[in-house]
Amino acid sequence: MVLTLSLRSFRWPEETTEALREVHLQARPGQILAVTGSSGSGKSTLGRILAGQLPGEEGLLEGSIELAGQRITSTAEHPPRIDRAAWGAHVAFVPQHPREYLSAARSTVAEEIAFGPEQRGIPRVQQRRAVADRLAAFGLTELAGRDPLRLSGGQQRRVALAAATVLHPPVLVLDEPTAGLDAAARERVCADTFEAARAGTAVILLAGEGETVTLGPHTLPADPRLAAEHAALLFQDAEDLFTERTAQRQVEIFARVPERVPQVLERCGLTGVRERHPLELPGAGRRLLGIACALARDTPVLLLDEPTVGLDAAGRRILLRLLRERAAAGGIVLVSTHDAELIAACDAPPVVLSAD
Ligand SMILES: Nc1ncnc2c1ncn2[C@@H]1O[C@H](COP(=O)(O)OP(=O)(O)O)[C@@H](O)[C@H]1O
Ligand SMILES: [Mg+2]
Repeated sequence: MVLTLSLRSFRWPEETTEALREVHLQARPGQILAVTGSSGSGKSTLGRILAGQLPGEEGLLEGSIELAGQRITSTAEHPPRIDRAAWGAHVAFVPQHPREYLSAARSTVAEEIAFGPEQRGIPRVQQRRAVADRLAAFGLTELAGRDPLRLSGGQQRRVALAAATVLHPPVLVLDEPTAGLDAAARERVCADTFEAARAGTAVILLAGEGETVTLGPHTLPADPRLAAEHAALLFQDAEDLFTERTAQRQVEIFARVPERVPQVLERCGLTGVRERHPLELPGAGRRLLGIACALARDTPVLLLDEPTVGLDAAGRRILLRLLRERAAAGGIVLVSTHDAELIAACDAPPVVLSAD
């Protein structure tokens, strides 16, 4: 695990409501984690937290982040002091507005991309090779001599992406990386993102609604094994969490509102087995019970790791219906999957983050 975030809440100063609540995520080498949501749902705020930029002087963060074996805890009374340079060596962040990323001290695109390797004291020959590689990867070779601040927004985004990936950071956080790009540039960004993951980077994608579609097999490199290996996202194996003697009891211990447990069991098709021992349920039943536990927590964010694995056709139907309902009700649904059918189903966006 290169990065683990366990965030109870984040509130911007002057705001009465929290921008983020109960966001728990883990980034593992070689995995791509997509966090999607509508505008105002907190994606960029989350990105800046992951980038070590918050809470800083602003904002109140309750929670902890573990990065490269070091754990940083933040409370309202004791915000952490973060060494941005040290953090930056582990996490590269490309903000939503790429201009924020560009240093302004560099007069050409090639120099901008060379900035990180220079700081790191990488030998010149290697620097040049790395820069040429990034220029080619993002179709920037012809723009190498141009002033980054005089490029279009889409071009600046490609420069920022090239610069952020030149040192192959262990964690790469991309805030709406394909927004404002044309189809060719989008494809480059997707291909490069998968390439980065294949090379072992943990990629966290903060995507606008509907953008997860770009993670679908149709934009993957032709090799479907790549999708299976690297688009397999994350999160808890619910079965590891089973501690109780009955399915109903198991859901109750996760439930925020215990009175709603019967309804959750019913929605998940588990009413008939509510008195059974969780581990005695058939595979599909165990998966559905895990999903029921997650639903019952009633958190703004719902995280599902490979939720379709082990489900039968009836279970799949239940799952898809639940995710759509949850999204329609304004919940954040985070699905990690390499299940092509589930990804396709996400087209009718079951993966939605609410704006409050
Ligand atoms: N610098 C800031 N100061 C105060 N509030 C902010 C700031 N940046 C974002 N917010 C608020 O935080 C919430 C989430 O915004 P943001 O993270 O930008 O969402 P998204 O990236 O999903 O569109 C919004 O209500 C927004 O107004
Ligand atoms: Mg944003």
